[in-house]
Amino acid sequence: MVDTLSDIVRRMTGAQSVQLGKPIQSLWSGYGVIQRAVLQGPRDGGSDEPTAVVIKHIDVSQARSNRRGWGGDASHLRKVRSYEVEQTFYERYSGQCDPSCQVPGLIAAHEKANESGWVIVLTDLDAQGFDRRKNDLDQRGLRACLTWLANFHATFLGSSASGLWPMGTYWHLDTRPDELAALPSGPLKRSAAEIDRRLNAATFQTLVHGDAKVANFCFSDRDRDRVAAVDFQYVGRGCGMKDVAYLISSCLTADEAASQEEALLNIYFEALRDAIAVRPIEIDVAELEREWRALYPFAWADFCRFLAGWSPDHWKLNAYSDRITQSVLKHLGHS
Ligand SMILES: Nc1ncnc2c1ncn2[C@@H]1O[C@H](COP(=O)(O)OP(=O)(O)O)[C@@H](O)[C@H]1O
Ligand SMILES: [Mg+2]
Repeated sequence: MVDTLSDIVRRMTGAQSVQLGKPIQSLWSGYGVIQRAVLQGPRDGGSDEPTAVVIKHIDVSQARSNRRGWGGDASHLRKVRSYEVEQTFYERYSGQCDPSCQVPGLIAAHEKANESGWVIVLTDLDAQGFDRRKNDLDQRGLRACLTWLANFHATFLGSSASGLWPMGTYWHLDTRPDELAALPSGPLKRSAAEIDRRLNAATFQTLVHGDAKVANFCFSDRDRDRVAAVDFQYVGRGCGMKDVAYLISSCLTADEAASQEEALLNIYFEALRDAIAVRPIEIDVAELEREWRALYPFAWADFCRFLAGWSPDHWKLNAYSDRITQSVLKHLGHS
């Protein structure tokens, strides 16, 4: 007999019963489902209070059969690896995230036989007060997200990223050969490797979230200065500017991004200095800031390289991102 999801979760957690709730959404291209549940009865951690959880259930076998026609092996293998990375992040790294860069708590994680899937059971952030989702951000919300990023980056400065992506972000050049091939010949294509090399050569590296768009942050009405983040499939080593540029791309128009650029970078770096000051980190913060500020345009150009190959008409390829990308190409002598 095939185990149901509640059987699996019961066994993983030691709960007496698992009441499955509403699916939140299905995962990308039939890779599974993310859904709420309540665990009842004594569990491995000792607690016997009912616990609200979110289950991320990845079923690769299902995806395999759906796969024909919508994506090649590179895309499938990247996806499978991304779930493995997410499980590793929760198991080996998430415990280091304090409330200044809140993430869901890991209750249990389980890899199904033959890499056929994963079941990750997390605390429900909604039950912890982070029950608001947003599409647009006001200044306070944007500040809260930048502050989350600064604290996350400070927490993992110098991390080896063992078990995660050697270079984080879902658009990293090495993982996007098809999009690079699709990019028309020209200065951006010629500079793609050099832009990536500059980012990777930065002295100061940390873990980047890798998909830090507004939709992956959870907000709280009780505590508007703090957010929590989910979706750690593309976490890996990198320069923090990659997350900052991508967050800005996810919620501001070209005009807003241009007029607020300096203010937003100032907010981020002030939060980063504060985050480093309260942690036992020996680092030349001024040097870090100098290096990363200079890489902000490179982080944008790197993301635009992906967009221009993947979806050349994307709204994020706008006057602001064009101008930054051109400035990088000019700097590299490739314009
Ligand atoms: N632990 C959690 N608590 C509350 N909501 C969550 C939790 N994990 C995920 N979610 C919600 O489910 C959505 C999808 O989860 P996510 O991990 O981002 O999956 P996907 O990879 O499909 O984007 C998130 O944007 C968030 O709103
Ligand atoms: Mg998501």
